[in-house]
Amino acid sequence: MRVLVTGGAGYIGSFVVRHLLGQGHEARVLDNLSTGTGRAVPDVPLDVVDIRDADKVEAVLAAFSPEAVIHLAALKSSAESVRSPHLYYDVNVTGTAGMLRAALQHGVERFVFSSSCAVYGSPQICPVDERTAPCPQSPYGETKLTGERMLGWYARSAGMRYASLRYFNVAGAASDASLGEFTSESTSQLVPRVIDSALRGTNLEIYGTDYPTGDGTALRDYIHVEDLAAAHVQVLERLNSAEVCGEYNLGTGRPVSVQEVVEAIERRSGLPVPRQPRPRRAGDPMVSWADPALAHRVFGWSPERDFDEIVRSAWLWHTSGEQRQA
Ligand SMILES: NC(=O)c1ccc[n+]([C@@H]2O[C@H](COP(=O)([O-])OP(=O)(O)OC[C@H]3O[C@@H](n4cnc5c(N)ncnc54)[C@H](O)[C@@H]3O)[C@@H](O)[C@H]2O)c1
Repeated sequence: MRVLVTGGAGYIGSFVVRHLLGQGHEARVLDNLSTGTGRAVPDVPLDVVDIRDADKVEAVLAAFSPEAVIHLAALKSSAESVRSPHLYYDVNVTGTAGMLRAALQHGVERFVFSSSCAVYGSPQICPVDERTAPCPQSPYGETKLTGERMLGWYARSAGMRYASLRYFNVAGAASDASLGEFTSESTSQLVPRVIDSALRGTNLEIYGTDYPTGDGTALRDYIHVEDLAAAHVQVLERLNSAEVCGEYNLGTGRPVSVQEVVEAIERRSGLPVPRQPRPRRAGDPMVSWADPALAHRVFGWSPERDFDEIVRSAWLWHTSGEQRQA
């Protein structure tokens, strides 16, 4: 398939591109490089375009005629979205509506959308499955839910096959450190933040240390970026009928606490991570982990890598010489 990957120069998108090429598909990236980098996708054509620029998006679709779009381009920080909701609605909702309109105009047959566990907010019951009513607790989560709903309506109106993939916490790098997350100092992702604290000896702020969980810190579901990328290709290839269109969790079903993440990185690095306990943050769920059974049943996808491999590969990537800043 010819696949246009928006946000393909970002962390997850660059792995999706690799997996597409590995399975013999043709890929092209559309990205404004606001957080991504061309270094992550050296082997495919890259159009430096903002998804909100309708004329340029149109021109890319006209030139490439993709059969499928994987739409990852978005802003992704819940905390930032609370401070700047207009920005999140603009990029994640208006931008997604523009991509959908253009995809339909150009006869795109399949559309895969990066959604998020943030659509569930603070789930009452974990593991959380797709029958759970969404209840986002940040503008970010709202924009992802809106994206899912727009996609459903737009796609049904034209018979386009679609899937919204609700990622849990994505982490890790290629096993040989050939690709990973080009992080900035302001990253909100826990694994790179802990690694950074270990390497620099700076304080790691932990929000919430008095939750009624085993060690007092929040529980999350960490999914290896290689497993996540593989899921996109599997889903895309099997989006053959209207019956399989819908929303799917992509997680492991195994909760890991913030404290366990810190300890795992201390063990791997041999370095202490200085912690600074902070109060709980409004809107942060205490626990959030997936029931990934539906994606397995429908697409035959299951994650293959465990949390140790996430830590091993992420540590190798962040310490293996090359400049890892975006
Ligand atoms: N990383 C996670 O744990 C996680 C979890 C759930 C969902 N997601 C979703 O996955 C997707 C990819 O996330 P990521 O972690 O790879 O983040 P990322 O920031 O590395 O990638 C996003 C990419 O989109 C591009 N982009 C942003 N705004 C754009 C615009 N207006 N026009 C064109 N390109 C634009 C950026 O330059 C970047 O390359 C996002 O949609 C995010 O919401 C990520």
